[in-house]
Amino acid sequence: MLDLPLPTPQPRNETTLHYAPGSPERAELKAELLRLSGECPDVPHVIGGEHVHEGEAFDVVSPHAFRKVVARAHAGGRGMAERAIAAAKKAAPAWAAMPLEERARIFLRAADLLAGPYRQTLNAATMLGQSKTAYQAEIDAACELVDFLRFNAHYATRLLEQPSSSPGMLNSLELRPLEGFVLAVTPFNFTAIAGNLPASCALMGNVVVWKPAETQALAAYHTMAIFEAAGLPKGVINVVHGEGQPVGDACLASPDLAGVHFTGSTRVFQSILRGVGEKIASYKSYPRVVGETGGKDFVLAHPSADVDALAVALVRGAFEFSGQKCSAASRAYVPRSLWPGLRERLVAHVRALRIGDPADFRTFMGAVIDARAYARLAGWRERLAADASCTMITNEGWSNADGYFAGPTIVEVSRPDHPLLAEELFGPILGVYVYDDAKLEEVLTTIDETSPYALTGALFSQDRAFVGHATRRLRQAAGNFYINDKPTGAVVGQQPFGGARGSGTNDKAGSALNLLRWVSPRTVKETFVPARSVGYPSMTEA
Ligand code: SIN
Repeated sequence: MLDLPLPTPQPRNETTLHYAPGSPERAELKAELLRLSGECPDVPHVIGGEHVHEGEAFDVVSPHAFRKVVARAHAGGRGMAERAIAAAKKAAPAWAAMPLEERARIFLRAADLLAGPYRQTLNAATMLGQSKTAYQAEIDAACELVDFLRFNAHYATRLLEQPSSSPGMLNSLELRPLEGFVLAVTPFNFTAIAGNLPASCALMGNVVVWKPAETQALAAYHTMAIFEAAGLPKGVINVVHGEGQPVGDACLASPDLAGVHFTGSTRVFQSILRGVGEKIASYKSYPRVVGETGGKDFVLAHPSADVDALAVALVRGAFEFSGQKCSAASRAYVPRSLWPGLRERLVAHVRALRIGDPADFRTFMGAVIDARAYARLAGWRERLAADASCTMITNEGWSNADGYFAGPTIVEVSRPDHPLLAEELFGPILGVYVYDDAKLEEVLTTIDETSPYALTGALFSQDRAFVGHATRRLRQAAGNFYINDKPTGAVVGQQPFGGARGSGTNDKAGSALNLLRWVSPRTVKETFVPARSVGYPSMTEA
């Protein structure tokens, strides 16, 4: 009755390749970039294993060269979502009946295919479609997705502690998949998250309707190809492309909605929670809703901080992938005593950054994802430049002539309650608040109370007593807290990722905690020698 534990040792994180000049991986990735640049696949919906090319076509472009169309996809809409739900329901009984061990083997195979023959395809697709540099694509599309697949298989088969059994009986607990289907809604910014959200639910025996971000359709297409090549049965993961709203509406209207696995904007997540709440009486089970949304991730420097390390962490944390990580550093609190030295280092680092096409491997930052993101960020930049409480420290590198290039922008803000230190911008704009060295306690309160989010945060300090104190004071301010490191770059199996407050349900993707949300445990008690009389000894007359 119970699944066997998978005979695999504790997985190790996939080794990151470095793409240095002369390395074989650099040559392979360049060749793959060239090959994919010459293709423009017609990306299908995947419904019950069938590749469906229906619905109004839309272009997927390179953000750093927006005239270059890298793929065409189709808007599925409500009708396609309904077909996906039907296909998922059809596949559900056989998939749920497959032992966990066998399901895990499919995803372990996908991990090895991705780590090997498909690695540079998914990296190149992520560079072309999402404007990641080679290194950012490698740590995301290759390493993180491989890690999600391997670690989840490992955690899944070890989730259960069996209950104890009194004499005369045997008790057991089994992990059933949820009854119905799970809707996975995935973001543009991480190919790994996009692949993991449907895969982790499917691993636990669920069937899935997967709605990738339109701007991530190229990498999502190659990710699905890897799952198919690994032997994922038809209908277990069904992909519907296009706008989110009609797909979400169809899924939320189905009485079989068993869960939503979401990463994306706070606004959309709140609308999903609201929609599920409004229809709560119509579902067969209460849907599990798991979401990771925004952040206003902080870096606090103590007067004892190592300024060189702090400057590097701020530049990498705020500007890698153009600040489009939910974890990106977007507000820094710096003591007055350190600010002149730090400012000088930041300006020097930023001047040396190359912004442009990631196919040029010297590039540090590509473009932001689309015209809408560029316009929103450029609007912020304009308002900040005109704001008397702001001083622009760096402000170059912006252009939308051929690509959506938002330059690395650092703004000193004189008010701790300024919107720049509270609202998520999701781009390469870092707010810096300079505090009086004597006002450390106040600044801890400011960090904790300024923003509605609580995703990541970092502290730079060489003072051990302060490290302990600040770690306790900021306990609820971040789900991932870093000491003397940047607040980005969580590694599966090492720093399970997620935050609470406005940042989401903190169900820690890539951990056993997350997998538990996708199962409904059943207790089975078998009594070997059943009772044969109704009365109890206490009822016997003395
Ligand atoms: C993210 O989910 O946005 C990023 C994870 C990380 O950088 O730690």
